[in-house]
Amino acid sequence: MAIQKVKQNVFSIGAKHWDRRLFDELIPLPDGTTYNSYLVKGTDKTALIDTVDPETLNALFENLKNLGISNIDYIIVNHAEQDHSGGIPAVLAKYPESKVVTNERCKNMLEDLLKIPDEKFIVIKDEETLLLGDKTLQFYLTPWVHWPETMVTYLPEERILFSCDFLGSHYVSSELFVQDEAKVYNSAKRYYAEIMMPFRNNIVRHLEKLEDIEIDMIAPSHGQIYDNPKMILNAYKDWISDNVKNEVVIPYVSMHGSTQKMVEYLVDALTKRGIGVKPFNLTVTDIGELAIELVDAATIVIGSPTVLAGPHPSVAYAAFLANMLKPKAKFATIIGSYGWGGKMIERLVGMLGNLKVELLSTVIVRGFPEEKDLRALDVLADEILEKHKELDLL
Ligand code: FEO
Repeated sequence: MAIQKVKQNVFSIGAKHWDRRLFDELIPLPDGTTYNSYLVKGTDKTALIDTVDPETLNALFENLKNLGISNIDYIIVNHAEQDHSGGIPAVLAKYPESKVVTNERCKNMLEDLLKIPDEKFIVIKDEETLLLGDKTLQFYLTPWVHWPETMVTYLPEERILFSCDFLGSHYVSSELFVQDEAKVYNSAKRYYAEIMMPFRNNIVRHLEKLEDIEIDMIAPSHGQIYDNPKMILNAYKDWISDNVKNEVVIPYVSMHGSTQKMVEYLVDALTKRGIGVKPFNLTVTDIGELAIELVDAATIVIGSPTVLAGPHPSVAYAAFLANMLKPKAKFATIIGSYGWGGKMIERLVGMLGNLKVELLSTVIVRGFPEEKDLRALDVLADEILEKHKELDLL
């Protein structure tokens, strides 16, 4: 990745990973990602804000060389996860005079994860500043976005917030700044859903804190720089709010068509009642798409056949994931089929303990659904309609 100038003496010098397709061996990356690293040159000192994933270190070193950087005074570490911190040992080896600047929690994690020795650290506290000469860095601790040690770094002279993972997106482009807000919005929503959504309550507090500082640009460590910060800040305010939308998400699997018939019938029944609905056949679904829909939906309906007395394993995986992501849905239920018995519903309900939902009527069918079973789905659709009306969603 080429050096890109953010402002006078502020450069983006990280790496673009155009063809990475999976993150943490879990999260699909349809648009690749970036590991943004920023260089801030003050009149007295030079700081590198976050490094890169170790496998892209060449790009970082090439950019440092091309900028003629022979000395890095400070490596600012906003987050200990290795896609940003993993390059630190190599940077320290090349620039041995550098000090690693971070908070106490992050220091402890870097010592554990990367074996960086104690004497290399300068530990900062919340709102502490670090002078670079004509530029200042100020640190704000923002724990749990998405690890306990996360923080952000503010450059007041340029009103730039370096937010690391927080407010980022897995999106890669040759353009430094956001050009296509709609595309980036979708990518940032996917990122929020997969990574930040479980920490909704922490984010509320962090955004309140950031309201006290003037921000012209948000420079995350994944994705493009927001030179219209309101775009992402307003999106986050919407996603973290308690407001849900008049939408039902139906993750499901069908083995021989019974659950499929039920899902199709329920989709039509909800549509007729003016409720937005999105079914996801889990055998072909990108789980990121499912996660995006979980951000706003008022209701989750899980559809599963019964396999060896329990849910289909792909449904169990989706339920486990949804439970981890803690979406703000208000209602949930389970529909599905069985051949001779089992405890599919009980097992799925037991997997959803993190969700603060009211459980609606379940519909479980022996074999292929008959007329009475379809009527039961109509009753469920009416129940969902009433619940959504109670929340003034339609
Ligand atoms: Fe981009 Fe949590 O690391």
